[in-house]
Amino acid sequence: MRLVARRFCALVAHPHVEALGELAELLGGLGLTVETARSTVEAMNKLRSQAVHVLVANHVSASFDGVALLEASVLHAPEALRIALVSSPDEAVELDYRPPHGGTIIRLVAKASERSRLVALVGEGVKFLTLVEDQRDLVRKLSLDQTKLQRRETLLDVVVRERTKELEESYEKLKAANRQALFGLAEAIEAKDPYTKGHCGRVAAYSLVLAREAGYPAEGLETLEFGAFLHDIGKIGIRDAVLLKPGPLDDNEWAHMREHPSKGHDIASKISMLHPIMPAVRNHHERWDGGGYPDKMKDTEIPLVARIVAIADAYDAMSTDRPYKKALSLEECEAILRKTAGKMYDPDLIEVFVSRHLGALYRDDYEGLEYDGAVASS
Ligand SMILES: [Fe+2]
Repeated sequence: MRLVARRFCALVAHPHVEALGELAELLGGLGLTVETARSTVEAMNKLRSQAVHVLVANHVSASFDGVALLEASVLHAPEALRIALVSSPDEAVELDYRPPHGGTIIRLVAKASERSRLVALVGEGVKFLTLVEDQRDLVRKLSLDQTKLQRRETLLDVVVRERTKELEESYEKLKAANRQALFGLAEAIEAKDPYTKGHCGRVAAYSLVLAREAGYPAEGLETLEFGAFLHDIGKIGIRDAVLLKPGPLDDNEWAHMREHPSKGHDIASKISMLHPIMPAVRNHHERWDGGGYPDKMKDTEIPLVARIVAIADAYDAMSTDRPYKKALSLEECEAILRKTAGKMYDPDLIEVFVSRHLGALYRDDYEGLEYDGAVASS
């Protein structure tokens, strides 16, 4: 039975050609590549020049010292299976195949009838060598796979980083596009009524400076500015006849107009990027004393962002021309705001807004305040 492909080599050393041929045929039948040598010198040369896994040598005869050869072979083929063929049963030392055999020399009787022992022993040796080689191959393959895996992981890291960067850039672009679309929407509402043109941008600007002056957390300023800009987005849902009516509104019309914060809330709730600004949209018409709408919240129940937007919204309405009234001066606006502090608006925020003249932001004659927000400049 052929056990393995011819990757193991047997060296047979014997002074007689016939014996060499017979042994070579036996070992070749086990799947071994067989080299032969008729002298110990030739055998030693072959041992030096190639890997030998099984070494079979004739025992001592007049001109041939096989045992010495086998002993010397340890240097060149330390793991080889060494077998000496002896002439008398008295000299035989039969050992089982016990790896690692190292320098052990197994002595078998050279008779033809004993050849089956030789075949069995070498067969076991080949099986063992195959296992060892397979194990080495496996270790090599695993180590190669490990290296490949590490390379792949590194490559994957690079690809993931690049993709993440691309995604982040796409997300930022998308966010900017969405913001532009929403700002466009708010501007479209303003455009219906020329008197409120620029109102959303100014409310955003006043809200931002008031928030900064009042110590609003820096990380929330962008959302606050965005919410202030879109605070009246619910006016999309208000009928033109009411929204654009030049004269005063009747009770029914006021009731409809006062639906715009909750309509805005409904719109914002359907757009995930607007969720953070819902308090500004829904609660910017609440009053400090609880008399506002839609939730009749009181004092600090009202979200801070909505209290800020409410003041900015009121101030801009007072300080710009409307169809039914002329713009008030900064002083007049500040006086009115002071009067309403604690009734309509947060008194602390009013104090900040008035005492620091934050309403002067859009007045050409006032130089003490600068606004660098993105919305106002857009
Ligand atoms: Fe409003």
